Amino acid sequence: MKLDGIQLDLNDLVYEPREDTFMFIDTLKDEPIGSILEIGSGSGAIILSLAAHSPGQFYVATDLNYLAALQTQQNSIKNGLSINCVATSYAFPFRYKGLPETIVFNPPYLPSDPPTDKFLTPEDRLALIGGDKGYESLIKAIDLLSFKTLYSMVSSLAVGISKFKQMLKERGINVIILDEKKFSFETLWLVKLVKINVI
Ligand SMILES: C[S@@+](CC[C@H](N)C(=O)[O-])C[C@H]1O[C@@H](n2cnc3c(N)ncnc32)[C@H](O)[C@@H]1O
Repeated sequence: MKLDGIQLDLNDLVYEPREDTFMFIDTLKDEPIGSILEIGSGSGAIILSLAAHSPGQFYVATDLNYLAALQTQQNSIKNGLSINCVATSYAFPFRYKGLPETIVFNPPYLPSDPPTDKFLTPEDRLALIGGDKGYESLIKAIDLLSFKTLYSMVSSLAVGISKFKQMLKERGINVIILDEKKFSFETLWLVKLVKINVI
């Protein structure tokens, strides 16, 4: 697949870039982003497109799906881009001091639906299902990780945007909507989360 000038090899067991991925790629180009940590990099589409636009920065990618971390690494080598890839959950092996303070996380954001979930592969469940409500994986990242800015995705199938804003306000975080896409069954919001009182 060719995406934004990047040649991406794909794998059936790794999330294939789709509408949500494209929202990140299109929107983050216009954001003042330096070094980044991407959680859940999948094929590497987002972090590779950022690295291609600003090659001099420090890029770290993690994915709990080992094949996805490997795919990001192989795609970075294929495109001559320098990305540090690790197969892990969130950013567990790292000391947070020294990591990029801007995080990108296109999380699994759908609510669990046990009758249909059981037909998904473990890799698809990891990529798609964010928890019973759908937003748990993102909230865990927010509570766990140290960041100034976190770019992420919210689906109306998990939570309404007003409720999400209220939940994050209680955590001292402002939610800025950067992009919105409406489908017949779902609305997706690309959000920028900024810690209040962090300069
Ligand atoms: C919706 S996919 C996004 C993939 C890619 N960033 C994209 O936009 O095309 C979510 C990704 O997060 C990964 N993931 C899920 N839980 C994770 C965790 N706790 N730590 C790291 N990666 C995780 C999945 O394996 C999957 O690759």
